[in-house]
Amino acid sequence: MFDNDTPSGSYRIDDIKEYQRLYRLSIDDPVGFWKRQGETLTWFHPFHTVRDIDMYEIDFAWYLGGRLNACFNCVDRHLHSRGEKAALIWAMDEPGQYRTITYRELKHNVARTANVLLQHGVRKGDTVCIYMPMIPETVFTMLACARIGAVHTVVFGGFSSEALRDRILDAKARVLVTANQGLRGGRRIHLKAIADRAIEGIEMVKTVLVARRTDAEVPMKTGRDFWLDEETRRQRSTCPTEWMSSESPLFILYTSGSTGKPKGVMHTTGGYLVYAATTHRYVFDLRPDDVFFCTADVGWITGHTYLVYGPLANGATSVLFESVPTYPDPGRFWRVVEDLQVNTLYTAPTAIRSLARESDEYVTRYNRDSLRILGTVGEPISPDAWNWFHKTVGQGRCDIVDTYWQTETGGIVIAPIPGATPLKPGSATLPFFGIRPTLMGEDGKEIEGDDVQGHLCFDRSWPGHARTIWGDHSRFKDTYFTHYPGIYFTGDGCRRDEDGYYWITGRVDDVLNVSGHRLGSAEVESALNAHEDVSESAVVGFPHDLKGTGIYAYVRLTDEAAERDLDEVVGGLREQVRQAIGPIAAPDFIQVVPDIVKNRSGKMLRRILRKIASDDYDSLGDLSTLLDPNIIEITIQGHEALLAAKKKK
Ligand code: WT7
Repeated sequence: MFDNDTPSGSYRIDDIKEYQRLYRLSIDDPVGFWKRQGETLTWFHPFHTVRDIDMYEIDFAWYLGGRLNACFNCVDRHLHSRGEKAALIWAMDEPGQYRTITYRELKHNVARTANVLLQHGVRKGDTVCIYMPMIPETVFTMLACARIGAVHTVVFGGFSSEALRDRILDAKARVLVTANQGLRGGRRIHLKAIADRAIEGIEMVKTVLVARRTDAEVPMKTGRDFWLDEETRRQRSTCPTEWMSSESPLFILYTSGSTGKPKGVMHTTGGYLVYAATTHRYVFDLRPDDVFFCTADVGWITGHTYLVYGPLANGATSVLFESVPTYPDPGRFWRVVEDLQVNTLYTAPTAIRSLARESDEYVTRYNRDSLRILGTVGEPISPDAWNWFHKTVGQGRCDIVDTYWQTETGGIVIAPIPGATPLKPGSATLPFFGIRPTLMGEDGKEIEGDDVQGHLCFDRSWPGHARTIWGDHSRFKDTYFTHYPGIYFTGDGCRRDEDGYYWITGRVDDVLNVSGHRLGSAEVESALNAHEDVSESAVVGFPHDLKGTGIYAYVRLTDEAAERDLDEVVGGLREQVRQAIGPIAAPDFIQVVPDIVKNRSGKMLRRILRKIASDDYDSLGDLSTLLDPNIIEITIQGHEALLAAKKKK
């Protein structure tokens, strides 16, 4: 059963043999499989070629010849059959406050917003930067861009003005859409003020549209800044959709890598949307009246694929959650579940870990009978957290889906199919249709068979795979396809067990997974190195109870700074990182060292630094290549002192 008819009351696929049969089919006949899936979208003009791959140039194209519009597929095509159905339910920061937006209302709001963009000169192919809180206008703006063929780049509202500025410059956005303020957990976030600082002196940004989330007045620059509500009010609620070719860019989303400069990952209109819709249907066993609650922020890929594009392309009801899991108390998620009769909850292990520490009474206080599927994404989930999610939240009767994917994969690539895949807590289980995971060894050869471990790669293209890094295709090739020539390398380590199940063991590069968010150690280092007090720094991850990975920075100060009050200097450095990237990147520990552990050729020994930061000094390995062996002892002592000082506090 590969069709798009949503069954009711029974699983789409209810047997592992059926999954295996369909998986085989999708691998043996990918063109046939993806043709069927492609046909579940509405095309203005049909595609003539399902896929076209040039592995030499690392160019993949899907659904060639086809023309479509992502907004039309997410909005207009549902008006006839489900115009009065809730497309979005906005769960506002204020507990118990909700606003429903039907598909018809979505259409009107999106069209008005699209007209505003057009009026401000945005045209097909232009980029628009979105720096907004979790409010309906954010989704309207994303879809409005898609409607007129503009490329959106959403920047997470927790990023700093410097980070926003870098992204605006790289994407060459002429229009910035923001809000006067955001509200999160009762706190106000001064988005417009941050946006103003970000674009100070940038000539390129001609227009700033400002959504009104609070009653706060903010400075508005005449001729540049406009209130979004005043602009939309003047517009008609209809706006034609551009016919985009399937490979036209839909959006750019920045993510961290192993260099200091974030990468603008580009996704396309046709392939991405087919993949978002297909994975959303199968992995969450979507049923006609499902209320789907993805807790991610739209500033991340999870929000793009499983809050906006997947659910809306499938005509489902998607919850837009503005608040935080602990506001006003740790029962907030379950309160939303009861209030909105949520069927599927999709969240991050870091949130589960923090809620599991609280009294179960916060969960059991609310009725969770509507829940059918519980999903996780972003990092491996420990068996403890898995069991709490399964037993306490799901009362032992919900399907759990641990979904593995990345910004670059566009959608889920390894996950169970509810009803079919037997689960193992901690494993993302088996590949999605059309996906072939390949474990590669350090020697560049594929590791075959079961009960093995290696670098997780994918050796063939699928429609949702990112096509390039914005403005730098050679960086795309170098980053992902040169480690193992012609094969996509994820950056993750992975084990395949005796049953062929996949277990992600974590990043093998210098990327940190902090609370399910990706941060490059190089990015944090370059923020630190930009401070006048710093001569040199090294940033590594260490195991952290709540965040999964914490951030640990070793810093060598300038002679001048080393003379000053240490607490004050370190406080300044922490603030520097918040300014350069955002609060999520602020190091948990900053250790001042006389020198950074290096080998004789001057290379920082991150492996050793990671071990010390993780209190694991017994197996530091071969130290014979060290430039100065004494520095290890000094670094360990400094680390111990830092821990002791933290405990005291
Ligand atoms: C990295 C991608 C995909 C949306 C969220 C993060 C890690 C993701 C899992 C999982 C173990 C996971 C990987 C991956 N990751 N899902 N289910 N189990 N690890 O997107 O910021 O692009 O980060 O998150 O390390 O490479 P992202």
